[in-house]
Amino acid sequence: MCGIVGYVGARDARDVVVAGLKRLEYRGYDSAGVALAAEDRIEWRKRAGKIANLEAAVAEQPLPEAGTAIGHTRWATHGPPTDANSHPHVAGRIAVVHNGIIENHGALKARFDVDFASDTDSEVAAHLLRREVEAGSTLVDAMRAVVADLQGAFTLVALDAEDPDRIVAARRSSPLVVGRGEDEFFIASDVAAFIEYTRDAIELGEDQIVEVTSAGIEVTDFDGAPAETRDFRIDWDLAAAEKQGYDWFMRKEIFEQPKAVADTLLGRRGERGELQLDELHIRPEELRRVSKIIIVACGTAFYAGLVAKYAIEHWVRVACEVELASEFRYRDPIVDANTLVVAVSQSGETADTLMAIRHAREQGARVIAICNTNGATIPRESDAVIYTHAGPEIGVASTKGFTTQLVACYLLGLYLAQVRGMKYGDEIEAILTELERMPGYMSDMLEKADDVYGLAERLKDRESMLFLGRHVGYPSALEGALKLKELAYIHAEGFAAGELKHGPIALVTDGIPIFVVVPPAGRDQLRDKVIANIAEVHARGARTIVLAEERDAEARENAEAFFALPNVSTLLQPLVAIIPLQLFACEMATLLGYDVDQPRNLAKSVTVE
Ligand code: G6P
Repeated sequence: MCGIVGYVGARDARDVVVAGLKRLEYRGYDSAGVALAAEDRIEWRKRAGKIANLEAAVAEQPLPEAGTAIGHTRWATHGPPTDANSHPHVAGRIAVVHNGIIENHGALKARFDVDFASDTDSEVAAHLLRREVEAGSTLVDAMRAVVADLQGAFTLVALDAEDPDRIVAARRSSPLVVGRGEDEFFIASDVAAFIEYTRDAIELGEDQIVEVTSAGIEVTDFDGAPAETRDFRIDWDLAAAEKQGYDWFMRKEIFEQPKAVADTLLGRRGERGELQLDELHIRPEELRRVSKIIIVACGTAFYAGLVAKYAIEHWVRVACEVELASEFRYRDPIVDANTLVVAVSQSGETADTLMAIRHAREQGARVIAICNTNGATIPRESDAVIYTHAGPEIGVASTKGFTTQLVACYLLGLYLAQVRGMKYGDEIEAILTELERMPGYMSDMLEKADDVYGLAERLKDRESMLFLGRHVGYPSALEGALKLKELAYIHAEGFAAGELKHGPIALVTDGIPIFVVVPPAGRDQLRDKVIANIAEVHARGARTIVLAEERDAEARENAEAFFALPNVSTLLQPLVAIIPLQLFACEMATLLGYDVDQPRNLAKSVTVE
């Protein structure tokens, strides 16, 4: 949700910032802009729409060369996506870009007798900074004074035309990382912005200000005291942030899943083959005391959490709730020191999830994050973290994020079962071994991509589709439907198959496509009921697309299309069942001519509540 880039160094800052914005475009693509200082004044270009529009504006009216620049790609919150509402916002000698929401912008604006050029909450920050520097403050002192007045979440990055080789950034509840090169520094919402120049990065903490020149950086807290930061090395390279021949990042990320899942599983076994989670710095005694688990997450991560509930309750025998992070905090949840809260978030920056864990920690709960982004806010504010190591996920719709979150949830469940003595070593070993086989099965599923694409071609004129599943097939159905609606803008609903007769069956009309995820044959009762559901909707004219085990001849009987799943344990089936559903949504959106990586109105990481 909004991407921010800043550069100070010997390169051409215009190019570095625009290239960085392109890598952050997944964060928001309503508008983009860049500002730099030249001859004691701010020069800037900004345009509504994608970064291509900004590039056209810069080509039409070139910016002067500079070694320092800031830029922004926007996901609109306050004010529609227009040129005027684009960032940077400029007030006299100051240019500012902002990610987050300044909640008290109304009161702050009232302090000024000026015509604001935009409808944004952000522009007032430029005026506040201008007032401070014009009164004689340095930019960093000005930033310190201004953030003291701001309420809400923000990353602010500012440039002063009278001090053109320096940028100053502040962060509160919004992402910001620094990239360290040789005599050059980068700041960005995400390391992807500078991965082609350096893999050495510095994680900033909450309520910190960083002052950047080519000579070095200085990090202080909001009161001006020196602050601690953490250096880290980015464990992926530029190739991971490029499409590498695929038409969409999403398609590339779907195909990366076998490797991503293998990477999530890497190094999880101790010398005797037992499960170990090195990153999980919570003492076994504490995990033994846990009497309730609550998983909080949003979007696709929430569906991963729904699958985790089935696995954790089955393996650990501890009650496990799954809650939308946006609902959790506001309903007065029952949380105490024996509650383990698990926050699942690919980006680690989702504001709803962040607020949920803060609330949980205030109530005394221990929090474990499952996250894909090293050093993001959610893992930083959690007691422990399991990183998924999936590499960067750039397509807005989460795919390898989902499957690797599932694996991390399974690992957590097994680990809890291990430390609490709920499973014998050989039982855990058997499940781990099966998990290690999943990348191979996932590759097999990906080989069927052409069949999925053929199906998308046949169904591309359909306006509504349903997805049914039971047990862990239910969250798979929900996720399949979500993918289709967010990418192809087709009405899609996922239902628990058992609920069919309690309402959804009224939606079944002649020719409606219905995807059905059938549980493995070993779950005979559940499976039989889902097979009956297929017959019921088929009898009412639905076109059934069935995902079931290859050996399940009965499941094929009423299927217009059949996708064979490998013979795996029920709990692990979502890892393979989701693949045709992801491919279908990706292909459908492609056929309909939509931008798969940047679906309308969405942003990859939603850093505002
Ligand atoms: C946004 C994205 C979804 C994602 C959700 C949660 O809505 O569009 O794809 O599932 O955020 O993101 P997180 O980073 O917390 O997993």
